[in-house]
Amino acid sequence: MSYEEVSKSIDQVIGYIRNDHLSDEEKDTITKETVHYFDQYVSPGWLKYRKSVSTNSAVVEWRDHDAVCEGLYGEEFIDCLGGFGIYTCGHRNPEIIELVKAQLDHQALHSQELLDPLRGYLAKAVADITPGDLRHCFFTNGGAEAVEMALKLARIATGGKWFISTVGAFHGKSMGAISMGGKNTYRAPYTPMVQQVQHVEYGNAEDARKAVRNLTAVGEQVAAIIVEPIQGEAGIIIPPEGYLAELRAICDEYQIALIFDEIQTGMGRTGTMWRCEAEGVTPDIMTFGKAFGGGVMPITGIICRPPLWTEELVNNPWLLGSPTFGGNPVCCAAALATIKYMIDYDIPGQCRDKGTVLKAGLLELKEKYPTVIHDVRGIGLMLAVEFVTSDVGYSVAKGMFARGVMTAGTLVNSKCVRFEPAAVITEEQIKAVIERMDAAVADTKTEFSL
Ligand SMILES: Cc1ncc(COP(=O)(O)O)c(C=O)c1O
Repeated sequence: MSYEEVSKSIDQVIGYIRNDHLSDEEKDTITKETVHYFDQYVSPGWLKYRKSVSTNSAVVEWRDHDAVCEGLYGEEFIDCLGGFGIYTCGHRNPEIIELVKAQLDHQALHSQELLDPLRGYLAKAVADITPGDLRHCFFTNGGAEAVEMALKLARIATGGKWFISTVGAFHGKSMGAISMGGKNTYRAPYTPMVQQVQHVEYGNAEDARKAVRNLTAVGEQVAAIIVEPIQGEAGIIIPPEGYLAELRAICDEYQIALIFDEIQTGMGRTGTMWRCEAEGVTPDIMTFGKAFGGGVMPITGIICRPPLWTEELVNNPWLLGSPTFGGNPVCCAAALATIKYMIDYDIPGQCRDKGTVLKAGLLELKEKYPTVIHDVRGIGLMLAVEFVTSDVGYSVAKGMFARGVMTAGTLVNSKCVRFEPAAVITEEQIKAVIERMDAAVADTKTEFSL
């Protein structure tokens, strides 16, 4: 294709974006071309995955609002996947979008040289809403990137080399982050990776203590223990009460940095702004992401306690990282609007209360279908249903999708279907989710003769 032809073909896409009333013919073309381009230019695997979940044909998403995703033809889905937890404030939250638009009207990205004020205001706001003396912020673009910064900061601040992570953990898929990962599938193709990682059992503080003690005994120095306060991708695993406090004690005893990865648990999802607050434990470094950009812009980051921000980092602010787009004005505006929205509308409280209602409904289904549903667990709007097998779970998710409810499995535990809807989900929508799931489970029960 010549450049002129490329430009013309993009004109057509621009026309679709700008057009509020696409004709049926245009919708058919978009659907056909999307399937073709995914297959040819993205990855055939994606298409296979999406198609199979969407019963018999791929659904092209086009609009969204509140707790709902819409297909190109107006198909409505109550979104219980929540973009893996990014839509806590809802889809296209109007207050967040309004501020992003206002920011775009005078500046989108920053010069990289002058002082960009929103970075400072946002860092201060994050320090204000995080527990204890967490204070210095570093903003990044994705969750894995934030985890990289946390790991690097732990090494530079403590001088230690080793990391203690947990089996089942998920911290992202960049090289450092996946080194901490707790599932072989995602690690094995990339070994050797960061070598100095020891994985211990999640929820077992004694296991972590033993690893640290043994490494120390043979002259190794541990930089950090990294954990999710609730394991998300492992299937929403809540550790025993006191686990996080015990990890804090181990880190204090051995002068190790404690990293809490709150990328999924943070920003209200579990009923408090941060999960570690519910346990009364402050880490040395905390990562945040997903819902932090309000479901509108991608922004993630870390915050740490002052002693970790060493002289070395003060002397060279670019030593930890210097991501071109990290903390850019338009993303900072989204995060500022998100924090305000979360406070003004008590989003953590809404997650807590609506989570109680949704969980009660899921538990009733477990009572009704004990041969299909093995477990219901989680807190706030971070819930999971574990089915007796992966195939059974997949069949129920498919049945729910056909009935206009979007869910998905978790990355590490395929028997689990997650429920992480927006906090703005209504009680009627929660009721509809349970009713439709009831019908889907009944179908699966028959299909699998359970
Ligand atoms: C706890 C946790 N950490 C890190 C990540 C990685 O985030 P991202 O996909 O934005 O790289 C995820 C994503 O699911 C996560 O749940």
